[in-house]
Amino acid sequence: MTDAIRPLIAGNWKMNGLKSSLAEFEAMLAGASDVADKADLLVCPPATLIASFAERARGSKSLRVGAQDCHAKPSGAHTGDLSAEMLADAGASAIIVGHSERRANHGETDVEVRQKAEAVWRAGLTAIVCIGETQHQRDQGQTLDICRGQLNISLPDGARSDNLVVAYEPVWAIGTGLTPTAWDVEQIHGFIRELLIARFKGEGARIRILYGGSVKPSNAAELMAVANVNGALVGGASLKAADFLAIARGCP
Ligand code: 13P
Repeated sequence: MTDAIRPLIAGNWKMNGLKSSLAEFEAMLAGASDVADKADLLVCPPATLIASFAERARGSKSLRVGAQDCHAKPSGAHTGDLSAEMLADAGASAIIVGHSERRANHGETDVEVRQKAEAVWRAGLTAIVCIGETQHQRDQGQTLDICRGQLNISLPDGARSDNLVVAYEPVWAIGTGLTPTAWDVEQIHGFIRELLIARFKGEGARIRILYGGSVKPSNAAELMAVANVNGALVGGASLKAADFLAIARGCP
């Protein structure tokens, strides 16, 4: 059944990108129709670029624009923060929450990640909830326990395949050039799928599970062919249109 899930290739630009990056984004937009038979594309630039990118992407069926984080509240005295409603207003269709860099650098807990995911839904958008173990946790053999614990608390009730995407991103694989083996990815994604089905029944069978961490054109085809891998969350390689589109072409 999961074979029918349409892949999503999502680019997380992190703290990269200026107005001058519009040309690179336009190259992605221009190439998106060529990979439309393979995958949906999502580009999550820094918040400063969402409105201009979304304006350019208006009407595109195959490429949408997303955000990298949001505050849990809709408005209020939260200097420097952005609400899901604001990001929706700027043109975002999805928001990444619980990225390991937010968890590590800003101390975000699973409870806060769930509140943010609920905020994303409140604004009518899709939440991309990130989970994944550190090197130390992996070395201790805790990978599945960590993923189970993060999913149990970070995912709100009421998840559906059209409002939730789960991204498995082993922290040790992010930005390092290291990736788990295809066998490892299959075990972990299979485990995540079981948990999603146990909790969300039929919807859990259709929620996309992305792999993230050092995905690049040279390893995309192997990773995307793994059972229960329904796309990728791409960091560094999503900054260049040629690489980002090549990753999408790697989808089965
Ligand atoms: P890299 O693709 O640069 O390893 O980053 C992965 C990531 O953190 C995407 O959210």
